[in-house]
Amino acid sequence: MNGTRKARNRVESARPDQTGSGAAPGRAEVTPYGTLPPASAPAQRKPVSLPRLMEMRARGEKIAMLTAYDATFAAVADSAGIDCILVGDSLGMVCQGLNSTVAVTLETMRYHVECVTRGVRRVQGTSWIIGDLPFGSYHETREQALRSAAVLMRAGAHMVKLEGGGWTTEIVRFLVERGIPVCAHLGLTPQTVHALGGYRVQGRGDEAARVLRSQALELQEAGASLLVLEMVPAVLAAELTGALARCATIGIGAGSDTAGQVLVLHDMLGMNLGKMARFVRDFMADSSSVRGAIEAYVAAVKGGSFPVNAEHAW
Ligand code: KIV
Repeated sequence: MNGTRKARNRVESARPDQTGSGAAPGRAEVTPYGTLPPASAPAQRKPVSLPRLMEMRARGEKIAMLTAYDATFAAVADSAGIDCILVGDSLGMVCQGLNSTVAVTLETMRYHVECVTRGVRRVQGTSWIIGDLPFGSYHETREQALRSAAVLMRAGAHMVKLEGGGWTTEIVRFLVERGIPVCAHLGLTPQTVHALGGYRVQGRGDEAARVLRSQALELQEAGASLLVLEMVPAVLAAELTGALARCATIGIGAGSDTAGQVLVLHDMLGMNLGKMARFVRDFMADSSSVRGAIEAYVAAVKGGSFPVNAEHAW
């Protein structure tokens, strides 16, 4: 047998069966494409649920969230102890090479939510999965928002995220009343970057802070359980975090006093060829593996050493 055929046979005998059931229990599976381990190991921690997130918020345990867009990164993030995986529409920039999130479609989001869910399930993962509703998928009517949310929930999301305040309040209420957990998103909302005039800090000045404050309270009232605060002054984010007893704030460029933190995975792994945003730390710089970098992120968020207001906030 020549060398090429031998190599092909090795690969073919190692290929997992097409049902996706993996190797026989107890037998390590060797696969050629960085495949995830077989789903045989018992989960190491209890699944992250909505009551558990609320309990973390009440206890003051910081919630560690990262984005992920595919099965392998999602599984690695899960095994590194991440609480929440956000399948963000930032995938438009990260995976699709777009220059904003505006052109990301619901079908693309469905596909990536499915990939992430498969990865997390395959390793019997426990992370809470959030599917981002893309631009245009919830803007027409509450019914349209429900249909779009159902697409992401069927794909495996536990919760959906949507951007904006004021007009979104009735949509949040409609979804929550129908059993769909909602994460809201205020401050810099990338889907409206053209209206905002760029990626700028939001909520600066008395009037802007007043609007943000009232929108955040309305969103909590409508039933949003999480609220991403993006590029909001640290003092305002801290004040909102204290004011929202039933809604956990998740900061990105919002200082250290929010209930949790989120970063775009590729940014915190240093895989950003452009200028890194002020609120990002490259956790790969001091780690020898992706898993190690994510573990360091989780530890830094939970231990309060990331973010540092003087370095990462406004
Ligand atoms: O789409 C996304 O990844 C996000 C985070 C940056 C919060 O919305």
